[in-house]
Amino acid sequence: MQAKELDALLARFTQVTPGKTPNPRVKAIVDRIVRDLFVTMNEFDVTPDEFWTACNYLTELGKNNEAGLLAPGLGFEHFLDLLVEERESAAGLNENGTPRTIEGPLYVVGAPVHQGSARIDDGLDTEAEPLFMSGVVRDASGKPVPHAVVEVWHANSKGNYSIFDSSQTPFNNRGTIQTGADGRYSFQSIMPSGYACPPGSSTLQLLELLGRHGARPAHIHFFVSAPGYRKLTTQINIMGDPLIDDDFAFATRDGLVPDVRRIDDPAAMEARGVNRPFAEIAFDFRLVEARDGLPTDVVERPRVSA
Ligand code: DHB
Ligand code: FE
Repeated sequence: MQAKELDALLARFTQVTPGKTPNPRVKAIVDRIVRDLFVTMNEFDVTPDEFWTACNYLTELGKNNEAGLLAPGLGFEHFLDLLVEERESAAGLNENGTPRTIEGPLYVVGAPVHQGSARIDDGLDTEAEPLFMSGVVRDASGKPVPHAVVEVWHANSKGNYSIFDSSQTPFNNRGTIQTGADGRYSFQSIMPSGYACPPGSSTLQLLELLGRHGARPAHIHFFVSAPGYRKLTTQINIMGDPLIDDDFAFATRDGLVPDVRRIDDPAAMEARGVNRPFAEIAFDFRLVEARDGLPTDVVERPRVSA
């Protein structure tokens, strides 16, 4: 179709019904997306079969609750991080803050709350490598932030998340740690493995058509918040994972890959109360101050509660 004909068609299709009032932002964005799709269909000569395959794909994606899985896989969630960061940098914030990275779709509201330190694995995986992680929540100048809250969640040694994986005890590898005046947090858990999109999932089907895999390096998620500071959504990656620079969700960032100490000294094992070699990670979070006029740090999205 010629560009002029396409323009005329779109002008007709995007008219507002007399007497109705559009939401101007929704209208501007949807009109633009429809235009871009028309142009794409025109350019690629999209057939009816192809179009309905795509429609059906979106229907299935929704039925399987996978929109939140595909979004990081296509890079949208990381792109959102970069857009927010651009606004923060323009406001002079963020220089010293811990980098944010994607939340992903697997957070669950309502994890057990602990003071200062916690054990967040259920102790049932007796093969997994015990992991001890600790650090301090600090401000941009390095001073400890009192009464911060560190929410942590991660996959088990098979790469699966409790609640979504009903074979695990509820809230395994999930916890909320309230720090004291010193900003210190610590927890015991087990070393996670990288998550991979389930075989046969809508997300993996599309990634395969794009010549991509659907796996992530091993990682641990965090929300870190404190009164007067911007809530931080981030992750650390487990150093040495072969997928660190090949994450299907594009979440790896400089500054988020701390050293992992491997310890097999019997006295240290006994002191930690474990019967096998373990790993230690030290990581301090740095929060930046809350400010008006920035994109919200508390993202509204549907989250599972249990
Ligand atoms: C996905 C899974 C994760 O564990 C994660 O952190 C981010 C994204 C996903 O399935 O899309
Ligand atoms: Fe994850």
